Amino acid sequence: MAETLSLTGANGVSEIHIETGLLNRAGAVILETFSPSRVHIVSDSTVAPLYLEKLEKQFSLPVTHTVIPAGEEHKQLSTVEGIYHDLLAAGMTRKDLIIALGGGVVGDITGFAAATFLRGVSLCQIPTTLLAQVDSSVGGKTGVDLPEGKNLVGAFYQPRLVIGPNVLTSLPDSTFADGMAEVVKYGYISNREILTMVSQPDYKSNIENIIYECVKIKRDVVAIDEHDTGLRMILNFGHTIGHAAEKLGNYTDLTHGQAVAIGMVAAMRLSALLGNENLTAPLIDILKHIGLPTELNYDREAIFNALLSDKKKFGATVNFILVREAGRAEITPIDAEKLHEYVLKL
Ligand code: GLY
Repeated sequence: MAETLSLTGANGVSEIHIETGLLNRAGAVILETFSPSRVHIVSDSTVAPLYLEKLEKQFSLPVTHTVIPAGEEHKQLSTVEGIYHDLLAAGMTRKDLIIALGGGVVGDITGFAAATFLRGVSLCQIPTTLLAQVDSSVGGKTGVDLPEGKNLVGAFYQPRLVIGPNVLTSLPDSTFADGMAEVVKYGYISNREILTMVSQPDYKSNIENIIYECVKIKRDVVAIDEHDTGLRMILNFGHTIGHAAEKLGNYTDLTHGQAVAIGMVAAMRLSALLGNENLTAPLIDILKHIGLPTELNYDREAIFNALLSDKKKFGATVNFILVREAGRAEITPIDAEKLHEYVLKL
């Protein structure tokens, strides 16, 4: 299967190519879209030793690179500044091309560097994790963290090209499971067929189709609400309590996918407390089948406080994503005081 999805955003059309093994001919695909004089690739210390040389060899024009240290703790402004210096040293101009080769952190940092260097240089995302393929490489959210919280500085900047999936077969099981949390999210918010696919014993062999269905949902949501003022919030199912748990675990106890899995279960419980159908049990079954955690092991008062300090708080209400039935979710503003009561009961 080889599929291309197009997304029209404020800074042009983004093409998302989905074909297993595309990294092997990424250079040719890239030069069908861009005509740069030079290319600068940003990768990290985990991915670069595996795939950077393979990608660089596919270009006959000047190619330079920056290899950043792997890990969310490096998703900060000083890392971006280092990339700017490398871009200047390489003689990059606005007509050239920046490529992000890596997972979500590399994509977010590189996207922000591309959005801001010389006020915007063309960007290609080559996601190498499942999470980056189904979520962060698509939709144009870029940025870095501050000591006060995650993703507090950033820009909406669509890549003109996204190429994947890549090298998923060589991912450790835990990294694969991490991305599957976002896959399950798409199933619950928009397409229950994804849940059927994921529930199969050999779901990994169908991953290209699963990715395609997820990216299609993300494309459709972002096409309607690129700047995250309404519908796009639906993609945050499981993320409100998930982010709070990630924060309480100092961003080291839980991976993002694990936090989202736990957050989705908590959101389902909360939905049942509000009188909706209780869909918690089937969700837990799917998450266990994938190998993801389901229990929220943090003090509820601390979860509530962390949740309120998250940027999705709007005055006296918090926008919560509640699943009404598998495949259908709604953005539900909940009064902060009421939410406090519910969180204590989770
Ligand atoms: N990861 C959620 C979004 O792109 O809006």
